[in-house]
Amino acid sequence: MEIINRRQRMASISRKLRRDAKTVALVPTMGSLHEGHFALINQARQMSDVVIVSIFVNPAQFNDQNDFDRYPKDLTSDAAMLTDHSVDYIFAPEAADIYTPGFKTFVYVEDFGEVLEGASRPGHFRGVATIITILFNTVRPDFAIFGQKDAQQLTVIRRLTQDLHYDIEIVAVSTVRESSGLALSSRNELLAPDDRERAAVIYRSLQAAEKAYVNGERNASKLTQMVENELAKEPAALVDYVAVVDPQTLEPLGKSIETQGLVTVAASFGKVRLIDNVLLSEKQ
Ligand code: PAF
Repeated sequence: MEIINRRQRMASISRKLRRDAKTVALVPTMGSLHEGHFALINQARQMSDVVIVSIFVNPAQFNDQNDFDRYPKDLTSDAAMLTDHSVDYIFAPEAADIYTPGFKTFVYVEDFGEVLEGASRPGHFRGVATIITILFNTVRPDFAIFGQKDAQQLTVIRRLTQDLHYDIEIVAVSTVRESSGLALSSRNELLAPDDRERAAVIYRSLQAAEKAYVNGERNASKLTQMVENELAKEPAALVDYVAVVDPQTLEPLGKSIETQGLVTVAASFGKVRLIDNVLLSEKQ
């Protein structure tokens, strides 16, 4: 495993890999690695000859400087964890090597970036779309692997990949959970111990909707209400939104779920904001 700090060198290694006809999978991360990331890396390993993990806490996707400052950053410990995971390259550039002096070009996926997380975190998806474009241009992978937990991010990246004609397959990996059901996230480390237990209510609330859907409930408002009722049982949960949307367009499903519905929740516990979702689908 080699750690690459310079964007130019990563680009030149990637060019050589392509010349040698190697398939490449990119796993973009912001470090603070956990089992959820390892599931992405395992998927990458199964699909390709070469696995590249990028570690970059992207300043452009934080709309709150305190949130950026508090975000865990420890490249040494992340790199040590990856030695057991059969990764070929870590790409860990400095911010100044990505956002070069005078940087003015951002990528913006219309509409998708403004709802749900985008409404609560203005500019967040512009930052995500921009860094993903830079990573795609640098690495030019065959596959890029992302977690289903960040469902809106996946929708934004799928749209971007299609619209900008990248020949990259976007692969989604199921959410990995703690035994309580809490979705693994680098932010869980910031939760107070009691809140970590309380936050399991998020998945319980989503499961209530899932169970009702399996039992035949297709009414989006009723499913939303079920999730809200379950969340209300935990007074520590400050709910930002509960929504049932079309996973391809992120548009709210007004009445009934036809083929697929994404039930998505954002809630804060203390200063820590968490998101989670379940995908309801006829194909399940
Ligand atoms: O999901 C993340 O960790 C980040 O949003 C990503 C995709 C690495 C872009 O910075």
